[in-house]
Amino acid sequence: MPLKIPFMSRKLPQQEKLQDIESDNVPNHIAIIMDGNGRWAKEKNLPRIAGHKEGMGVVKKVVRHASDLGVKTLTLYAFSTENWKRPKKEVDFLMKLPVDFLQTYLPELIEKNVRVQTIGTKGLLPEHTQQAVDEAIRQTEQNTGMILNFALNYGSRHEIVEVTKCLANQVKRGELEPESITEELFEENLYTSHLEEPDLLIRTSGEQRLSNFLLWQLAYAEFWFTDVYWPSFNEETLEEAIRNYQKRKRRYGGV
Ligand code: FPP
Repeated sequence: MPLKIPFMSRKLPQQEKLQDIESDNVPNHIAIIMDGNGRWAKEKNLPRIAGHKEGMGVVKKVVRHASDLGVKTLTLYAFSTENWKRPKKEVDFLMKLPVDFLQTYLPELIEKNVRVQTIGTKGLLPEHTQQAVDEAIRQTEQNTGMILNFALNYGSRHEIVEVTKCLANQVKRGELEPESITEELFEENLYTSHLEEPDLLIRTSGEQRLSNFLLWQLAYAEFWFTDVYWPSFNEETLEEAIRNYQKRKRRYGGV
């Protein structure tokens, strides 16, 4: 009999009774496109960066709750390869967020046995961002709990092209036969080679697209979209997504 994790809401609107989460069917890997920070801020007549700042606090809540629910990996799309097109002031702010986040919350991440990792081209991030992230990776590398995986300067097409180049070079050097290139070999060269594939993709803010996020890895993930802007996302929204996931029948192309 699976354990039932009680619904975490302390004050749900109208005290609506929602189903409990089945502890034996929590997605192992959740990937989130945290969208809507700018619109959240605009609605409140605040600068866009206020939305990102609020969003950072939500990351903390979601990390804690996902870890409590038994999620094994949480991948968060924090900065895409396309986000460099934003105004410099906003990019600078976004590049400081991991620094602020880790300065403030690293002790709690360590206490919760969370392991910090990243995917993306880290070498192109500003020095202070790289340093903060590398320090968090180093300080948490022995942790055995949830992997908190930040996608930073990440673009899925770039990742796929880089893997292709790497394999093509091995063929050119005579180290690899083209016939030996399999899905498994390709996967072994992705940033996510050591992770299980995402089971659930969440995107906030009403947009329903992938925006160059984990295109290969999401092949069999369940998608869940919500109109909620990221700064308004919380533990209850996360539970709503998981409960919805638990109603899905995953067939992986079978019957
Ligand atoms: C998309 O919203 C959001 C981002 C590009 C940045 C996401 C970053 C955070 C939520 C904070 C990350 C925190 C850490 C710890 C790294 P948008 O700006 O595109 O919103 P809009 O579509 O409403 O304009």
